[in-house]
Amino acid sequence: MSKPLTIAIPKGRLLDSVVEHISARGMDISFGSRKLSAVDSTGRLEVYKVKNHDLPTYVHHGIAGLGIVGDDTVAESGHSFTRVLTLPFGETRLCIAAQEGSLTPEKRGGTVTVATSYVRMTRDWFHRRGIPVKIIRLGGSVELAPVLGLAPYIVDLVETGSTLVANGLEIITDLADIKVRLIANPAYFKLHYREIAELADIMTRET
Ligand code: PRP
Repeated sequence: MSKPLTIAIPKGRLLDSVVEHISARGMDISFGSRKLSAVDSTGRLEVYKVKNHDLPTYVHHGIAGLGIVGDDTVAESGHSFTRVLTLPFGETRLCIAAQEGSLTPEKRGGTVTVATSYVRMTRDWFHRRGIPVKIIRLGGSVELAPVLGLAPYIVDLVETGSTLVANGLEIITDLADIKVRLIANPAYFKLHYREIAELADIMTRET
């Protein structure tokens, strides 16, 4: 067999689903203790476990030819990739949320302050609607911001909605559906088209 395809997978909330999805299709992946790279049992994939937000950087530079990542992370990176396929797990929504009973940003008027880790997507959304926005960048636990008075609104991922409810917040508006994709570095995709098409075929198989 030819050299393995290189693929970056994210260490965060998607990791278990990604490893399960690939392993269930006959490509067993097991990382040794603390080890961040592994070759699957068939030798088709060389897998790198990277921080979610660094994943687009590895694929953009062609260090990993492929990556599995959410639309949110791709959009925030500002890089362009070839989208190979959509995976059947990890779907979420990016939403504006605020304390229960809050007005929408449009109705509130004036410059809207928003705390978020999704600065680019948030800025684009408000600019497209002509709403002046001040964005406060946070690394996580964004739901605390309205509770503590840092910002009346947040933009964050909502999966089950339980983090919002637990903090007395509610969804004001949906910004985007977020899906998990297999992406490729565009040059790598052209060079390894046949092997990537075979992989895509395996990855979409029912188990
Ligand atoms: C994500 C997201 C929300 C939460 C949503 O946070 O930022 O806080 O999950 O999930 P839910 O709707 O099912 O409650 P994550 O756990 O990744 O940590 P973070 O706060 O550091 O972003």
